Parts: sequence; structure tokens; C-alpha cells
Amino acid sequence: MKLLVANWKMNKSYNDGLKTLQSVRKKIKNNKKKRYIILPPIQSTLYIKDKLDAKDVFFGSQDCSQYNNGAFTGDISAEMIKKIGCKYVLLGHSERRSLYFEDSKVLFEKIKRASEQKLKIIFCVGERLYDYKKNKSIQFIIKQLLDVFNEKTNFGNIILAYEPIWAIGTSITPKAQEIDSIHFKIKKTIKDKFNILNIPVLYGGSVKSSNSDEIFSLKHVDGGLIGGASLIASEFCKIYDTL
Ligand code: PGA
Repeated sequence: MKLLVANWKMNKSYNDGLKTLQSVRKKIKNNKKKRYIILPPIQSTLYIKDKLDAKDVFFGSQDCSQYNNGAFTGDISAEMIKKIGCKYVLLGHSERRSLYFEDSKVLFEKIKRASEQKLKIIFCVGERLYDYKKNKSIQFIIKQLLDVFNEKTNFGNIILAYEPIWAIGTSITPKAQEIDSIHFKIKKTIKDKFNILNIPVLYGGSVKSSNSDEIFSLKHVDGGLIGGASLIASEFCKIYDTL
């Protein structure tokens, strides 16, 4: 199945979020072959879900705590996320890694908590411009993968997202062939190390309706993770149409 994930980040509160999703829902439909997933700020999710009252829309959280419960001010647990009806959780986004200093140890714990709740995990990897320029993208990414996954990982719940850090919110993307090649190498790494065939890998970083057709037609790309362009309903729907 092809997936399109809308990462709203810290944008859109209750009404704005609801309006956006209502317009999206009028234009596009989920089916067996392709699915869109919305990641609103978590405090808006319950309200939007309630008002929208639609079983055909899938929600996820942009993060979860590495802890189960207890004195962790400001945190939201995987269990709470599950209970409000989210099916997905995004982990390892480069903004969380850099702005909140989330390292592989923390992410390993978060993956555990999310897996315990049987949430589907969209796990982000991606290199810095420095690594890209030195032709070291895949080495950087393989380390990010092997730092958090092992033989015990339940890969049935894992979706990967390749997001070059330098492509996020910059309107710059790698060349199509480079994207396809990294996706192929990510899939190959997971196959060689863990014997998992064809793990889904989404591409994220400056996807817009003007480039999504080319990116989604690549052999090893299974969908997209969309930031800025997911905030505008019509633009998000146009991107979905190219999936
Ligand atoms: P962008 O963000 O589409 O605005 O580049 C992607 C992301 O951060 O997931």
C-alpha cells in the first residue's frame, strides 16, 4: 500500500485543523491501494476526530514519550496516543533529534513503547548536508537504522521515511535517481540484516505537487511524508493524486 503522511508539526489548532481535514476529505478518499494519514498536534486530534466522525481517516501522533507513565511533565505516552484512536506515531524526525536532543538510546525506548501499544511507527532517517556532500549519506543512514533496530524488532509495525535533513523545508531535494538509490539501499540493509523483504520507505523533504509525480514514480519509493505542503488542503490533495 502507498502512504501519504501529513506532518502538520506545531500548526493548526482545533478549528483550522478540522476545516483543513474536511476539505481534504471532500476531495480524496482512502482505498486499499493508497492511504493518507494525518498527524495533527496531539491536543487537536481528539477534537478533530470527534467532529469529523469518520472511520476512513487515519490519525497519528508526531511523537511519544520514552516512558510508560509517571512524573514526566509535558510528555504524552504511547498508551494515551493509542487510547485517543491514533494508529500511527512518527519517531526520529530530525527536528526532534536536533532541537530536543533525541539520540538513538531515547529513540530505541520510544520505539519499544510504541510497539508495546501496537502503534505503527513511521521512523525517520536522513543525512546532513555535510554527509551528502562527502558521498556518505547511506553510511550515516545505516548507522541510524542499526542503532535502533535489532533481531527482536517487530518490523511488521515499522515504516521508514527517508528525509535528508537539508531537504526539509528548503525547497531543495536530492535528484530523483539519488532518492531511488537511497531507498533501494535502505531496503537492502533491512533485508540483509534482518531478512525482512521490501520494508516500506517513504520519501520526505520539500515534496510538493510540482515534484511529487516524479518522486512517487520511482521504483523504491512507497509514498511521502509531507510537511509544509500538507498544511494547504488543495495542495495535499494534488500530491495524493500523484501517489
Ligand atoms: P517539508 O517537511 O515537506 O516541509 O520539507 C517534511 C518533514 O519535515 O517531514
